[in-house]
Amino acid sequence: MKNESFTVEQFIKSKQSGRKISMLTAYDYTTAKLLDESGIDTILVGDSLGMVMLGYKDTLQVTMEDMLHHTRAVTRGVSNAFVIGDMPFLSYHTDINSAVRNAGRFIQEAGAQAVKLERGGEVIDKIKAIINAQIPVIGHLGLTPQSVNIMGGFKVQGRSQEQAETLLTESLQLQEAGVVALVLECVPEKLAKVISERLSIPTIGIGAGKHCDGQVLVVQDMLGMYRDISPKFVKKYAEMGDGIVQAVTTYIEEIQQAAFPEEKHGFKIDDEIIDKLY
Ligand code: KIV
Repeated sequence: MKNESFTVEQFIKSKQSGRKISMLTAYDYTTAKLLDESGIDTILVGDSLGMVMLGYKDTLQVTMEDMLHHTRAVTRGVSNAFVIGDMPFLSYHTDINSAVRNAGRFIQEAGAQAVKLERGGEVIDKIKAIINAQIPVIGHLGLTPQSVNIMGGFKVQGRSQEQAETLLTESLQLQEAGVVALVLECVPEKLAKVISERLSIPTIGIGAGKHCDGQVLVVQDMLGMYRDISPKFVKKYAEMGDGIVQAVTTYIEEIQQAAFPEEKHGFKIDDEIIDKLY
């Protein structure tokens, strides 16, 4: 466990010292508090909440209000971790002013310390404007789930020569624009290695292999709670889904058998008072 705060400078310091950065998603107070207590460096309030918390089939229906609501819950639970708010679909695509305003809402209204935006070239002007407004930005390349309809599904990115070169170029452009770190999602390990070696900012991989400067997973995936899909890159560190089903099954049985609640779970009253009620 650690109880030092992870600040924005730690991204670059970690890269320079070779210390790997740990990141997990969280969307609620209780989970965020547990992750923070465990010593996680950074918490991403990902728009993946659309799938794992709200039950949508992708992230496209998630709104700014959804994101702010969950980011507030997370920041209330966190003392040390660096909290990143994920900008949802259409919150930064239309024009620079609304991109800066929406990024600012994560900081001003929800207590996040940075925002994450998907993709490179198409949104680089918005990223620069957000950074100019003194808001740290995390980039996100490779599989960018908000582009699922253009990409034709959730697929590994960067496998062709052209795609690999574009990914490298865009990574360098994002670094040049001033992002503090770059999430690489579903990128072949060797390509992620080249990108990580070429950048002076840290890469945070998800399905991008061990050479990235840090790793991120969706917390419900790594705890074995979200079972609708099971991406190849997820390692399950617990089977909490099974644990929950087991616990709830026992609870139902114990209610049926009047085995719960027991005397220790109840509250006492003088018998005299009860006697007078008969
Ligand atoms: O929304 C999210 O949780 C993400 C991570 C998977 C990187 O973008």
